[in-house]
Amino acid sequence: MQQVHAPVTFNRPLTGDYWLIEVEAPMIADDLRPGQFVNIRIENSLAPSLRRPFSVYRVSPDRRRLQVAYKVLGQGTRLMAATMPEGGRCDVIGPLGRGFELPADAKRIAVIGRGIGIAALPTLVDEAVANGTEVYAFLSARTEPNLVALDIFAQHDCPVVTHTDDVAGTGMVTDQLAPLIEKLAFDAFYVCGSNRLARATHAMAGKLGIMSQIAMEQHMACGFGDCHGCVIQVNLDPGGREQGFREVCHYGPVFDTWEVIDACA
Ligand SMILES: Cc1cc2nc3c(=O)[nH]c(=O)nc-3n(C[C@H](O)[C@H](O)[C@H](O)COP(=O)(O)OP(=O)(O)OC[C@H]3O[C@@H](n4cnc5c(N)ncnc54)[C@H](O)[C@@H]3O)c2cc1C
Ligand code: FES
Repeated sequence: MQQVHAPVTFNRPLTGDYWLIEVEAPMIADDLRPGQFVNIRIENSLAPSLRRPFSVYRVSPDRRRLQVAYKVLGQGTRLMAATMPEGGRCDVIGPLGRGFELPADAKRIAVIGRGIGIAALPTLVDEAVANGTEVYAFLSARTEPNLVALDIFAQHDCPVVTHTDDVAGTGMVTDQLAPLIEKLAFDAFYVCGSNRLARATHAMAGKLGIMSQIAMEQHMACGFGDCHGCVIQVNLDPGGREQGFREVCHYGPVFDTWEVIDACA
């Protein structure tokens, strides 16, 4: 884990409500594993006082630069968009947390994401494709412009199914995965950005007896296990007989879905 005052190489609108910032941070980018995150502080501002956590969206091929796709939501992300221009600096700590596990012999995986949760997936997809693993993507958002990373999935020729609330209505994108699991063998599922999708993914993975993992989001402060500000209740066994507490920043943000689904009494 490193703290760097990284030069900003660009910071611009991406699509829909989202912006994309890229910083030069080789000491973080080189070590980063898919699913890990960074914690960003707004410099030259007393507020917000806490850093803001973000998944790493992409690492450059030379592993010197990293990108974060962020939704402009509140004070922190508004200031990120307004005060970190190209040529400026970004105070960033990372890589943080535990990332996704990709089985070395995985032949085919499905990634399922909603909204800005999709931002946690491209680094996993890059690694999977480099390993020769086939990736199917199931992406959903409120509206089409809020589907991020479509270009990255297209670049890798991944089959992509999308679902947007404004067009497709109340169903879920995983409704399209359900018939596919009868025909194709999947080795693992990865889900981010929606509890509903996580629940459906977990049920399908259970039926198939394969691994399924989820990248969790939680309010955070330190980001590295010191303050206990991000604790959630988890199952300690797949049957959910015993529960315990885990810091999302330190033990996660990636969990097996059985650890978090139905973990709260
Ligand atoms: C591990 C991790 C990875 C993340 N990756 C991304 C990412 O790649 N892109 C992205 O846009 N966002 C991501 N987030 C969420 C991001 O941290 C928040 O959107 C950001 O902190 C909002 O800061 P703000 O000051 O703009 O908004 P605030 O003013 O702090 O909050 C605005 C609203 O968002 C809610 N909110 C803020 N943070 C969270 C959170 N962590 N979970 C649930 N609700 C929250 C607040 O309750 C409030 O209603 C991630 C969060 C975590 C924990
Ligand atoms: S944010 Fe401090 S322990 Fe997780």
